[in-house]
Amino acid sequence: MTDAHRSDIESGLIENRTFAPSANWTSAGPGAEPVTPHIASMEQYREMYERSLSDPEGFWGDAAKELHWFAPWTKVLEWSAPDAKWFVGGKTNLSYNCIDRHIESGHGDDVAIIWEGEPMDGGPEIKRLTYRDLHTEVCKFANVLKSLGVKKGDVVTIYMPMVPELAIAVLACARIGAPHSVIFGGFSANAITDRVVDANSKVLITADGGWRRGSIVPLKENVDAACTQCDTLDHVVVVQRCGANIAWHHEPSNAHGKKRDHWWHDLMQAASADCPAEPMDAEDPLFVLYTSGTTGKPKGIMHTTGGYMVYTYLTSKYVFDLHPDANQVYWCTADIGWITGHSYIVYGVMPNRVPTLMYEGAPNHPTPDRFWSIVERHKVTQFYTAPTAIRAFMKWGDNHPRKHNLQSLRLLGTVGEPINPEAWMWYHRIIGHEKCPIVDTWWQTETAGHMITPLPAVTSTKPGSCTLPFFGVDAAIVSEDGVEQPNNTGGLLAIRKPWPGMLRGILGDRERFIETYWSRIKDASGEPYYFPGDGARRDADGFFWIMGRVDDVINVSGHRLGTMEVESALVSHEAVVEAAVVGMPHEIKGTGIAAFVTLGPGFDADEDLRTKLREHVGKEIGAIAKPDQIRFTDALPKTRSGKIMRRLLRDIAAGVEKVGDTTTLEDYTVLAKIRESKE
Ligand code: PRX
Repeated sequence: MTDAHRSDIESGLIENRTFAPSANWTSAGPGAEPVTPHIASMEQYREMYERSLSDPEGFWGDAAKELHWFAPWTKVLEWSAPDAKWFVGGKTNLSYNCIDRHIESGHGDDVAIIWEGEPMDGGPEIKRLTYRDLHTEVCKFANVLKSLGVKKGDVVTIYMPMVPELAIAVLACARIGAPHSVIFGGFSANAITDRVVDANSKVLITADGGWRRGSIVPLKENVDAACTQCDTLDHVVVVQRCGANIAWHHEPSNAHGKKRDHWWHDLMQAASADCPAEPMDAEDPLFVLYTSGTTGKPKGIMHTTGGYMVYTYLTSKYVFDLHPDANQVYWCTADIGWITGHSYIVYGVMPNRVPTLMYEGAPNHPTPDRFWSIVERHKVTQFYTAPTAIRAFMKWGDNHPRKHNLQSLRLLGTVGEPINPEAWMWYHRIIGHEKCPIVDTWWQTETAGHMITPLPAVTSTKPGSCTLPFFGVDAAIVSEDGVEQPNNTGGLLAIRKPWPGMLRGILGDRERFIETYWSRIKDASGEPYYFPGDGARRDADGFFWIMGRVDDVINVSGHRLGTMEVESALVSHEAVVEAAVVGMPHEIKGTGIAAFVTLGPGFDADEDLRTKLREHVGKEIGAIAKPDQIRFTDALPKTRSGKIMRRLLRDIAAGVEKVGDTTTLEDYTVLAKIRESKE
């Protein structure tokens, strides 16, 4: 940490600082001609924003015309809350817009994807795929999917490491209209089973393993374990990545009697490279992506083709200031298993014809400067990561980024959780050398793309604020009864108008869709607003400050988890009778997981059991869900009606000395028992 940085933090100055946009900023890479930012002034933002709200059909219709359509729409928007149809009757294909469109315009030999593998023995493994290369691979794999019986509308599950085949697989699904369901490679076998069964998926694509911090993530092994618990999968396609020793199932392992395991390279060898993109209806499903909610198992968020395409394209263009032919290299460090990777590695970026960089592994392998060496090696111009990563970099020390030439960087972005002002300032100074605008982008799996975000070098920035709404986003802070709150008053964040990227539903659960997003807040006439689950406030400049989730969802290292999911995993262990899980402040993760657990008779509350319970949660959900703290207690604090008092537990987990109101607590001695319990 620099002295200037330390003194800013100590004097509390950071929160109050505003960073004015820089007048001569350009997002073009070094050595390139300067480009004029797409949005040049605050005045232009305001004009466009006003039009986007007063004439959404005109605004979004114009945006959609920048992309390729096989047939035009007859109406831009049909809205009957909570159901939206965007670009009604229009026919398009997202894979076509990511690839073919650029070949048609004479850019087939430009680089589409730059990929770097994790292992560094003898230097990094790097692959560059041009639009033409990608076209061949995507068409071939689309034909492979067809040969396995995949038809338009069938959900294909993808559980892969960050290798080029992952991007090829999703684009192949989009090409033939088979919605994909990508499962993050860190999730467990049980998580795969739940998602495969929920989507009734018959084909799954995986790899023998993936490299992570020098070890092999046993992806195929997890898929094999999942297959023993579900009967829907006919085919498993396996990319050979690590040479891992894996079991192979030649024979059908389910009642359908189809051959199960296939090597990706064998199928590709036999496949034709001719596969025209299927004209998809704008409202045909593009993908489902599972995410955690307050109750039950993760839900499959559904996105459709046209609105998602236009929204992610336009947000990428304006928020990252993407320009083809401007020597830009864009890098988002997320995994394609999350919405950030879907929208801002693949679907929003590629139609903008700027190379997108994919990196396979961990930020600190083999050394903590790995990310900065990638920035230097590939001359990255736009860099998008999560606050949790920034906090880890801060902890590892300034010397790591300082070893590298980061002069190519033009813009920095963050996503996934609120960024603390200290981390913002470090990012600004040490990575951005005080010349890169920072875009702190607030959005969600459900919104498809950025909702509240600065526009680079146009919007003034304040560390910790995601600033102002994107075009078409009517964001407000309201009370429980839907009344807009005055400045600097906390309330619920609400979105009052439809936008093209909005989710179209939860797979197979209409009721939950309505109940979760469209029931809590209504206007005076009873019209529902979209409720994202976050609390926020607006300051005197109209800037938004996200205060975090107001439901039982926690945000661990920028990843969403339901406290109930972790509780269910804990009580599925034989030793556990009851469990309550809450979020707690965590230096690196932002929010850590604290679990309060009561044990059955005959089990010892010791370190060994704590380790076993952590491992058990890892096995049930995935490593990201392992509790940071497990406290054994004789009973949990409950109200007279039997509800667990989470607020008290949150205070205890945070180490707050004087816990909140306990007047409804049934048994006061419980509190003392928890406080005495070992961490
Ligand atoms: O609480 C908000 C937080 O992450 C939640 C969405 O999580 P998920 O669907 O997994 O998507 C993450 C990537 C878009 C939100 O409800 N969140 C996301 N971005 C920010 C944020 N909180 C504060 N500031 C952000 N920039």
